[in-house]
Formats: sequence, structure tokens, C-alpha cells
Amino acid sequence: MNETYPIHNSLKDADGIGQKRQRVTRRRSFLHGIGVAGATLMARNLAADSPTKLSSGDVAILKFLAAAEIIESDLWTQYSELGGVEGGNPAYMAALQNLDADMSQYISDNTDDELSHAAFLNAYLVSKGEQPVSLDQFRNLPSSQATGAQQKGRLTNLMKLDVDTSFYTRYRSDANPDFGATFPQAVNIRNQPAIPLNDTDTPPQMDQPIPPETKTAKRMQAIANSASFHFGFIEQGGSSLYPTLALQVSNVEVLKILLSIGGVEIDHFGLWHDKMGNAVSQPLAGVTDPETGTTFPDLNDPANQVNGAELSQTNLILPEPCRFLVPDVPCSIIRPMSTANSGAVATINAFIADNLFLYQSGAFIELLMQMANAADSAKRNV
Ligand SMILES: [Fe+2]
Ligand SMILES: [Fe+2]
Repeated sequence: MNETYPIHNSLKDADGIGQKRQRVTRRRSFLHGIGVAGATLMARNLAADSPTKLSSGDVAILKFLAAAEIIESDLWTQYSELGGVEGGNPAYMAALQNLDADMSQYISDNTDDELSHAAFLNAYLVSKGEQPVSLDQFRNLPSSQATGAQQKGRLTNLMKLDVDTSFYTRYRSDANPDFGATFPQAVNIRNQPAIPLNDTDTPPQMDQPIPPETKTAKRMQAIANSASFHFGFIEQGGSSLYPTLALQVSNVEVLKILLSIGGVEIDHFGLWHDKMGNAVSQPLAGVTDPETGTTFPDLNDPANQVNGAELSQTNLILPEPCRFLVPDVPCSIIRPMSTANSGAVATINAFIADNLFLYQSGAFIELLMQMANAADSAKRNV
């Protein structure tokens, strides 16, 4: 299905020149056709090729990753309903497109990727005679009341987030968290919505000029800017989680799954790392949320730099070489990559600190922690 939508009149092109462009947007069709029947068929095909029974450690890792992907799918679906190519909130989409004209396409595609990861991991577990993971009983959190959001139970909260933005300075630093280094926040994002809450707070049909002029337009731009940093936060977590757990996998096919999906998490992170820079550089920088006070300063301005230009400059999105295995020979790598900093338990703790599970039940956290502990305990056995 091909679809186009009118570009908002405030939209600037990716270079910020102000030239208006018509973007062609397309929703990928893979997941429209994949339901339970598709997943079962895929599981049967996989089973025919590989009847090997997996070790308990490999099963624990795959089950935890299936749970993590279901969680990612839930949050990305909320972003996509409001801001994807079939998104239903024009002002949110316009604010996102102030960051990059292709934001809606990237949001839809990232969402489809997560749905495919979750469906594949569960189908693979079934093909090996294991139970698939379901978190359906915990889909009880409220939906946004803003135009575009479907009204159904959610697993994750995106309406009051504390976003840890230290990944921004970590990847610009030559220090490695696995050797004890810590990193300052790039932007302070606390109690902040990353999706519009309702149509009174942020009217869905308003203009989103650069810079935003009205209180509601500033609020919406701050919400979209926060989303861009949250996208990066989520995907840098996946970028570290997969290689960390890959070191504990025994079966080479399971290793292939972790390396293949993990590579796409890194691809996502690289993309969002670039886009979020547009929230903290000209011409958009300087937006403050009138409700929460969250501010997106110009990080290229020497007055706003976090510990100097190296940790702030918005286009330094590729990983700075840092300390790795051989002392005094820095290497450009994904980091962290240790059970303590980026294993399964660390990932759930990061989600909790993010407020992603605000309003979730104790039973939900307990189940995730059990799965996370089992995954972190897996031992490589070849
Ligand atoms: Fe994923
Ligand atoms: Fe992801």
C-alpha cells in the first residue's frame, strides 16, 4: 500500500534550509499478514530444519529476549499510532518531522522490526518444543487520550518518563562503563511525556513552526524532542543487551539469532542518535516544555556544552574509541557489554528507572526479574 500525506507548512528539509519536500511514505506489509497462524507455520518450518533440543541456558536467553521484544513492540506501537506513517496525530507528526522529514517512516519501520523480533523469537521457541512468551495478562496500563491513540491496555508508560540521556555522552567519551566510568546527562528529561496526552494539552491540528511560538506548540515540540531521546535510550539498550547475552549462548544457531537481531538494534540506535541531535542544534534548539520545564539547549553552543565540546557536539554520533581488551589501545566498540551493566537484570532495572513500568503490577516486575535472572545465569557450554 502506498500512501502520501501533506507535509506541514513549517517543515524544513533535513539540512534545515527550509525547502519544502513531499515525502513518499509506505508502510511495510510483513506484519500485516503475520498472526498466530503465520507464526505457527514459521515454527513448523523451523522445526523441520533444526530439531535439536536447546540447553536450558539458551532457552532462558531466548525467552528473556522475547519478553524484551514484546515490551519494545508495545512502546513502539504507541509511538507509531500517533506519529508513524499511518499516525493519527498531525501536530505530533509535524513536531517529529521538525527533527527530520522522514521521522514517521523511521518510527513505523522500527515498530515493524520490533514486532518481527518478538514474533520470530516466540516462533523459534515453539519450533524447539518450548513455550512461547506472553505478557498479555499485564496489558492494563492506560492509553493516551490524544487523537490518534487506540484505546486499549498497554504494557508500558510513555506519558511520564525519566529518560537517562547519559548514553549520549558515553558514546562521545573515550571512557568505558565496564571499567567503572560514569557519564553526565546530555539533557535532563524528568516526568516528561514522550507522546501527546490529550487534545486539550496539545491540540492535534495546530501548527508546529520552527521555533514553536505558542505554549501548546512548545509543549508538543518538547514531547517530540523527548521521544527522540527516548528512541535512542531504548535502542542503545538493545545494542548492548544482545552482544552481552551472546557471550553466554551455547548453540551456534541461537548465537546467529542474537547477532542478527542485535545488529538491527545497533542500526536503530545509530539512526536515532543522529535524529536526536536535531533537537539540540539550530534551528530547533532552545525549546522548553512549559509544563515540565524540560529544556533542549543548543549543545553546539559553547555556553551549553556538557564537559566540553567532545561530549556535546551533536554530529559526533559515531562511537569514540574507548578502552577495551588491550590496555592503552582504544577501540571503537559497543559499550557497555557486561552482565552487571547491560545484562538482562540491568536492562529491566533501566526500564524501571525510565518509568516505563510506572503503574505496572508487582507480579509483572517479578516475572520479568525471574526471566532476567535465568538469562543472566546462562553459561556458555560448547
Ligand atoms: Fe528489537
Ligand atoms: Fe529495538
